Amino acid sequence: MAKLWGGRFTKTTDEFAEGFHSSISFDSRLAVQDITGSIAHARMLGQQGIIAKEDSEKIIEGLKTILEDAIMGNIEFSPHDEDIHMNVEKILTERIGEAGKKLHTGRSRNDQVALDFKMFVKEECEETQNILKDLISALLHIAENNLETIMPAYTHLQKAQPTSLGHYMMAYAEMFWRDITRFADCLERADYMPLGSGALCATTYPLDRYMTASELGFKNITMNSMDGVSDRDFAIEYLSAASITMMHLSRFCEELILWSTNEFRFVTMDDAYSTGSSIMPQKKNPDMAELIRGKTGRVYGSLVTLLTVMKGLPLAYNKDMQEDKECVFDAADTLASCLKVFTKMISTLRFNKETLYMQAGRGFTNATDAADYLVKKGLPFRDAHEVIGKLVLYCETNGLAIADLSEEKLSEFSPLFGSDVYDNISLEACVSRRNIPGGPAKQQVTAHIELMKKRLGL
Ligand code: ARG
Repeated sequence: MAKLWGGRFTKTTDEFAEGFHSSISFDSRLAVQDITGSIAHARMLGQQGIIAKEDSEKIIEGLKTILEDAIMGNIEFSPHDEDIHMNVEKILTERIGEAGKKLHTGRSRNDQVALDFKMFVKEECEETQNILKDLISALLHIAENNLETIMPAYTHLQKAQPTSLGHYMMAYAEMFWRDITRFADCLERADYMPLGSGALCATTYPLDRYMTASELGFKNITMNSMDGVSDRDFAIEYLSAASITMMHLSRFCEELILWSTNEFRFVTMDDAYSTGSSIMPQKKNPDMAELIRGKTGRVYGSLVTLLTVMKGLPLAYNKDMQEDKECVFDAADTLASCLKVFTKMISTLRFNKETLYMQAGRGFTNATDAADYLVKKGLPFRDAHEVIGKLVLYCETNGLAIADLSEEKLSEFSPLFGSDVYDNISLEACVSRRNIPGGPAKQQVTAHIELMKKRLGL
């Protein structure tokens, strides 16, 4: 089979080697980007008089028919034509004849693949931001309905202080908001159009790179042709943002798995997002959450793959870089499906409010507030800490909560205790008095929700 680059060769490629280095089996996924990029390039070539206007128009018409067929899935690409770039060029020439051979003027596959891949990553950055927005909206919904649903919060997985479910959900909303800004940043830095870099040292043709960039929706053009063809930072940044998002999802999943255990009973997962056991009839397992937690490792793997592929590469293009695509495609698919199933899953959670409240009251979660009470009565904090420590020890040995003790008993620990202590250490007080920005008081969480809505344009 004749190669587009066959001129200087006297032998054909070994058949096994040909299959080994062909990338069409996966880079056909870039068909739309590739053809769209070629249309812009051909238009610019015509406009600049580098090729005849009629040829340019013919090429564009031909490419449009290929684009249509590619979108409909009506094209069979050939592994003999190595990659998407040569497949498209070959099909074009078959369809329109001689003019098709002029498309590649002033261009190399090296800048072409950089362009296609950047277009793909830019689209993913945008799409991921939208899916994350849906996820945050689902969290806002839970938060708004649970501003006064009291639950325990933990450090070291030991009960620490009471908070509200709204406050808890907004912690995750904030994490996912940072993810949105990370994908936006990534897109911003990917927004430099590399076409015109040629193989590595640009080209002698007077290309109008700004014209191509603006037709393809790029804000800028790359400023060094060697960097233009050999940079894959944008893909690494994308994988890094994807990994961080997966890490957030994974942490959340871990909590949901824990919260749905018989030991916690904080939450009931909908049957639609749980599965059973083939042997144990009673089982209802949180498989979706576990699978998302597991797939996190897969996305991290993609990040490490690409970092490692790139780490020893001299300038400029090296064939190693063909290994950049599958890991990004896989990460993009994994991330999107995890985010979508997660959003559906949390939208159908049923929180067991009584259990949350009951558990918030156990484990001396109001101990800090009891100490703060004494501080307000004039005791230095360190001394108050000591008094409450002793009090907790007494309660623990006797199976009591702090609020179970009479005023009389309390005054044995400190004369500063008065009858107003009970109002100061109720769960409601513990939450509502933490009324500074970022805190769990209803007013503060409401303000955070409003801010989030504004950020998302909701
Ligand atoms: N299939 C190649 C890739 O994905 C396209 C660029 C090939 N360039 C070359 N000089 N062999 O990286």
